[in-house]
Amino acid sequence: MSDMWESVAPAWAEQAAFVDEHLAAASERLVEVAGITEGAAVLEVACGPGGAGLVAARRTGPTGSVLLSDDAPGMVAAAAERAADLPHVDTALFVQTAIDSDDDRFDAVISRHGLMFAEPPAAAVREAARVTRPGGRVAVMTWGPREDNPWLAATLDAVADEFGAPFPPPHVPGPFALDSEDALEAALTGGGLEDVTVERIDAPVTLASLEEWWHRVHRLAGPLAIAMAAMPDEQRRAIERRALEKAERAARTEGHGVTLGGCVLVGCGQAPR
Ligand SMILES: C[S@@+](CC[C@H](N)C(=O)[O-])C[C@H]1O[C@@H](n2cnc3c(N)ncnc32)[C@H](O)[C@@H]1O
Repeated sequence: MSDMWESVAPAWAEQAAFVDEHLAAASERLVEVAGITEGAAVLEVACGPGGAGLVAARRTGPTGSVLLSDDAPGMVAAAAERAADLPHVDTALFVQTAIDSDDDRFDAVISRHGLMFAEPPAAAVREAARVTRPGGRVAVMTWGPREDNPWLAATLDAVADEFGAPFPPPHVPGPFALDSEDALEAALTGGGLEDVTVERIDAPVTLASLEEWWHRVHRLAGPLAIAMAAMPDEQRRAIERRALEKAERAARTEGHGVTLGGCVLVGCGQAPR
């Protein structure tokens, strides 16, 4: 898995501000349900360039601490660069199903769009619960239903149409692997958390044009970027055309650009006391 994400780490580093702005409201909610307050010790897993952890770091302040972790070295490097001026934020390289930490070390563990890539997700939740102090919280964000996320689904659906087969393939964990309240709740309770809640939050994307949308999004979606890198130019252009057609059908024109619908799920549970 880290090879795929490592290959898109430069694009994630370059577009971190765009991703963080898209997810700003949902990320505030993530750290709120995680119960993160001043002085807390927080771990972010599957952090990418660390956007959610940096939101947490504003809440903990310098009396707290935030550890940003990912299993792709390029992502950890991007997160470290963004946190360079924050002495209470550190980085680490490890996989979310084998967290390099003692038990009960953190007040909260957070994850933004990483749990669906764990195999299986409940194993990553169990690890997060292990390193969270009893009564502390584990909070995760995943994408909501594929049909309510045309801003991302239009790119994946374009590949599926081009090849006449589901994309990502059913055996590969993809961005919509935990896209229902029931699936996310099952992963959280299956990982041993208590008092689990899941809520849905709208997260539309507004950009100047659909061309800008394509330029940004197709390089971020790990499974898409790696599949396209292996294709001949002509096939890449055919997928781009299909994606733009789909996005055009789904888009609303706003005064300053185009908006594509999106929504996330924010799930939370307590580590057992
Ligand atoms: C969709 S990106 C999200 C990045 C970041 N959390 C954000 O929201 O900006 C998914 C991230 O999960 C990481 N990841 C995927 N599988 C992982 C695993 N098994 N353990 C740790 N990190 C993983 C990838 O390297 C990538 O940084």
